[in-house]
Amino acid sequence: MKAEVREEIYLTARKWVEEAGEHIRRKINSPLVIDTKSNRNDLVTTMDRETESFFVTKIKETYPEHSIIGEEGYGDKLDNLNGVVWIIDPIDGTMNFVHQKRNFAISVGIYFDGVGEIGLIYDVMEDNLYHAKRNDGAFKNNEKLSPLNNNVVLEDAIIGMNHFWLCDNHFVEEKTMQQFVRTIRGARTYGSAALEFAFLAEGIMDGYLAMSLSPWDIAAGIVIVNEVGGVTTNIEGENLDMLEKNPVLTCNLCLQEKIIEFIKEGRK
Ligand code: IPD
Ligand code: CA
Ligand code: CA
Ligand code: CA
Repeated sequence: MKAEVREEIYLTARKWVEEAGEHIRRKINSPLVIDTKSNRNDLVTTMDRETESFFVTKIKETYPEHSIIGEEGYGDKLDNLNGVVWIIDPIDGTMNFVHQKRNFAISVGIYFDGVGEIGLIYDVMEDNLYHAKRNDGAFKNNEKLSPLNNNVVLEDAIIGMNHFWLCDNHFVEEKTMQQFVRTIRGARTYGSAALEFAFLAEGIMDGYLAMSLSPWDIAAGIVIVNEVGGVTTNIEGENLDMLEKNPVLTCNLCLQEKIIEFIKEGRK
């Protein structure tokens, strides 16, 4: 993708993300229609749907040749990542949006032939925009993010993960994960995968381990984390399939091998 083309798409995407965020902030106390999807804790609101529909309408008008993958289904059904593909989570952290009215983000990753070129994660209520373009560094608003400190040991690491790792699961014995959380300095659960990626990039966490994430949860985060020298793979250290759900490990490079080893030890 030519640099000028990418810059134009980036500026446009950024404008739409900020516009969508401002709309959500304005409506934050308005009544919501809340539905459930796969189970009673899998929430979706009219705001999730309206926000995704806003992006899809804008993209289709402005860039009819681009494709879209979105959580709420307004995008395209794709079986490949050819050309320019927008991967959108209109509200990442819907449960937080509903219950806390904070700690949620708009996440937009823009890929070209399968390569992440642009990542935008907007922490809407904090008005913090994490953004990156491939090979151009990552930023929080106007501040350039520093490369991650590559001297962290597991015992000093703060790792984002949720309680599912401590329940009976098909990846590892729960004892392994109990051992894991006892080994690391601390575990954190923010309830928005996109924000966990952003916090890793910011250097306030050292890793994030998730059992199953969709492409829209991680597309922007991968681009941003790459730019500070972090790495994102599945929990065996392999590349992710951006058209499917994956178990995901994103972390400081110096911890990757150790975390993968820990999980391997606990395999059933
Ligand atoms: C969810 C959040 C959450 C993660 C879930 C995701 P949503 O996204 O990122 O932190 O644990 O797996 O589905 O549904 O709020 O966009
Ligand atoms: Ca959801
Ligand atoms: Ca999500
Ligand atoms: Ca969502």
